Amino acid sequence: MPDRHLTSLTIRRPDDWHLHLRDGAMLKAVLPETARHFARAIVMPNLVPPVVTSAQALAYRERIMAALPPGAKFQPLMTLYLTETTDPEDVREAYAAGIATAVKLYPAGATTNSDSGVREIEKVRAVLDVMAEIGMPLCIHGEVTDHDVDIFDREAVFIDRVMKPLRKKVPDLRIVMEHVTTQDAVDYVRDSNKNLGATITTHHLIINRNHILAGGIKPHFYCLPVAKREAHRVALVQAAISGDKRFFLGTDSAPHTDPNKLQACGCAGIFSAPNTMSCLAEVFDAAGRIRKIEDFASLNGPLFYGLPPNEDTITLIKGDPVTYPAQIATGDGPVTVFDPGFDLHWRVVD
Ligand code: DOR
Ligand code: ZN
Repeated sequence: MPDRHLTSLTIRRPDDWHLHLRDGAMLKAVLPETARHFARAIVMPNLVPPVVTSAQALAYRERIMAALPPGAKFQPLMTLYLTETTDPEDVREAYAAGIATAVKLYPAGATTNSDSGVREIEKVRAVLDVMAEIGMPLCIHGEVTDHDVDIFDREAVFIDRVMKPLRKKVPDLRIVMEHVTTQDAVDYVRDSNKNLGATITTHHLIINRNHILAGGIKPHFYCLPVAKREAHRVALVQAAISGDKRFFLGTDSAPHTDPNKLQACGCAGIFSAPNTMSCLAEVFDAAGRIRKIEDFASLNGPLFYGLPPNEDTITLIKGDPVTYPAQIATGDGPVTVFDPGFDLHWRVVD
C-alpha cells in the first residue's frame, strides 16, 4: 500500500539521540514525557556544574533512574562533557564500564552552560585519540562562536574551520554532528563515507527563521543552532525522509521555564518531548514517506551507536487531531510545549 493511504503503522520503539533532561524538579517533570514513547536517550551533560567525570555521569544516571515513574522502562545513555582538562583515562574507563556512551563537545560559549567547553581543540587531542582507539562517539555542537561570524553562518563556518581539519587529524574518530540545521551540513554528512552521522531535531524539520522573527518575536521558537531559512529546512526534511542511515532523530528537547524564555535575554531551547512523535509523523506523512519514520527514529541511531534496535514496538494511528498540553507544570515553573502551528493527526499507541 502506498504510504499516503496508511492510517496505522507499527514501528520499532524509537530512541532520542539528543536530549536535555536537566536535574531536580525539572528532571522529575520532563522525564515521563520522554519515557512514555522512547526506550533510550542520549542525555546531554550541560548541567550546572557540568557532567564531566565518570563519577558524575554515574551519579546523574542514578538520579534519572530514581526520577522515573513507577514501572517505566527507559535507559538513559550518558555523555561526558568534554573540557580541556578531561582525563583521557577516565573517559576510557567510563566507556569500558558502560557508564558513558559518548562524549559531548561544546565549543566554549556556543550555547546554554557551555562555558567549560573547548576553546582550543588541540588541548583535547589526547582524549579524542583515546576515543578513536576505543570507538567511542563524539557528539559535537557544530557552531563557531566567533563574534565576527554571523549567527546564521556559524554551522557552515564550523564545518570548514573545525570539522574538516579534525576529521583529517583523527580519521578514526566516530562523530555525530548534532542538530544539523543547514543544507551545508546535510551535504557534508552525505559526502562522507565513514565515521560521521548527524542528528536532526523535530523542530528544525518544522520551523524556519520566519517563525521566530516575522510578525513579532517568538521566544518559544528560539533555540541553538537557530533555525535557518526555508531552503535549509527543506534540505533537512529531505535528509530525514530519505532513509539515509547517517541521519537520525535527536529531538534536542530542551526545557526552560517560561520566565526564563520570556525575558530580554531569553534562554535557547524548545521543549518537544510530549508531542515529538506526532509532529514527526505529520512531517513524514506530508512528504508521502510515513514508513521512513522507522529508519529515522528507531533504526539509524542504534546502527550508528552499535546498539541493537529496540525489540518492542509502538503503533502510530492517524485520526482526529491529537490533543496535548500547551504547557507542563514543573516544580521550577511552567514549561511551554512546542507548537508546530498545525494540527497533529497521528497519535502514539503503545
Ligand atoms: O537550544 C538549545 N538549548 N540548544 C543547545 O545547544 C542547548 C540547549 C539547552 O541546554 O537549553
Ligand atoms: Zn542540545
